[in-house]
Amino acid sequence: MKQIQLDIRHLNGFVNQEELIAFQKELNVVHPMLFNKKGKGNDFLGWLDLPSGITEEEIVRIENEAQRLRAMSDIVVVIGIGGSYLGARALLEATKHSFSHMLKNQENPEIIYAGHHISQDYLQDLTEVLDQKNYSIIVISKSGTTTEPAIAFRLLKNHLDAKYGREEASKRIVAITDKERGALKKLATEEGYPTYVVPDDVGGRYSVLSPVGLLPVACGGFDIRALIKGAKEMEELIKSTPDMEKNPAAKYAAVRNILYRKGKAVEFMVNYLPSLYYITEWWKQLYGESEGKQSRGILPHGVSFTTDLHSMGQYIQDGLRVIFETTLSVEKTKHKINIPQDDANLDGLNYIAGKDLQYVNKMAELGTTLAHVDGNVPNMHIRIPEITPYYLGQLIYFFEAGCALSGYILDVNPFDQPGVEDYKRNMFALLGKPGFEKETAAIQERIKE
Ligand code: PA5
Repeated sequence: MKQIQLDIRHLNGFVNQEELIAFQKELNVVHPMLFNKKGKGNDFLGWLDLPSGITEEEIVRIENEAQRLRAMSDIVVVIGIGGSYLGARALLEATKHSFSHMLKNQENPEIIYAGHHISQDYLQDLTEVLDQKNYSIIVISKSGTTTEPAIAFRLLKNHLDAKYGREEASKRIVAITDKERGALKKLATEEGYPTYVVPDDVGGRYSVLSPVGLLPVACGGFDIRALIKGAKEMEELIKSTPDMEKNPAAKYAAVRNILYRKGKAVEFMVNYLPSLYYITEWWKQLYGESEGKQSRGILPHGVSFTTDLHSMGQYIQDGLRVIFETTLSVEKTKHKINIPQDDANLDGLNYIAGKDLQYVNKMAELGTTLAHVDGNVPNMHIRIPEITPYYLGQLIYFFEAGCALSGYILDVNPFDQPGVEDYKRNMFALLGKPGFEKETAAIQERIKE
């Protein structure tokens, strides 16, 4: 199979062959720990088998649901936060037309997101657009109790009821949630919304290959069969061996940890195509929430080059030497635009006239890599033949498995997120949520002037 590759040639001088060979021993421990389900958080490993486990019946149900929503909607609003929305957004933004919302006669509904923050200006602006458009809602919350999506859903459900009447509105809402628990499940049952299940053993940030990611992207016209095919092939490869010469996720986990142990505690995910911005956001969530605990973990950061070379570029080249970079290196773009010849040549660009922009972008990528390596920033590249659903499927599984292996190497549980409860407890105390009376009294005392 043609597949994405991890290219570590620019790690020369930072990670040597002996270190990699020595590290293989650790991979030989964590690989079976993960795939035999013996490690920490092993009740959250359902994602390991999502690509191979999905049935034809489930795919058809999702495709039919998407078709139904597409037929009645100019806009599909996806409500969710964190792992409940970032995967879908990453896949759609990577593949859609950059200005789809400005094109006339679009074949796909526009997918818009809500419930991923608490901005009332955003929601007001959104409802003004929804006043003028036919729309439907996919509301996603595994717990069914997360505050941000619950607020957005309450508001947009009222808007939908007012616009279409309650009966029609309930046909325009699809819920993706736990199979039996949570407020959203209760509401979905009472109102008769079509419902899809987030499996018990799949955490939010590992859920993109479940209905959480598949239904929204199918609504946006994304080929979920190709996505699953790519993920499934990567699943087979990664499961088959811990050998880092054959298993790119194992190699990625090894290299990250070798660098981390040498003081490189910050990983920048680098892209050279703005459409990959949300792939980085998804990756940041996956790695940040999985590894950042017990006062350890590589800090995941993201930059879009060449844009950010004009801002963060200075720091990366010359600031604190704690950084390594992983570049999403895409070989082939969808389009080709050549730089035209210009007789006056006032901008001095004739030396690259006739070259296409991807060639120039690739030279920027290589030049930047070499400069950063010279500046003591180790670099590795994930070579992606092109941005298609098939290769994105490979990439998703590669990153998920790489994260789990890396988390086990760090000796943390990569499937919990105890730290995210702290802000919620304070927010609930400040808002006076029932059940938080003691916390409310304590926090009022703490913030007293
Ligand atoms: O990865 C995670 O577990 C989190 O980011 C969750 O996806 C996020 O907090 C949303 O949770 P829920 O789906 O329960 O609303």
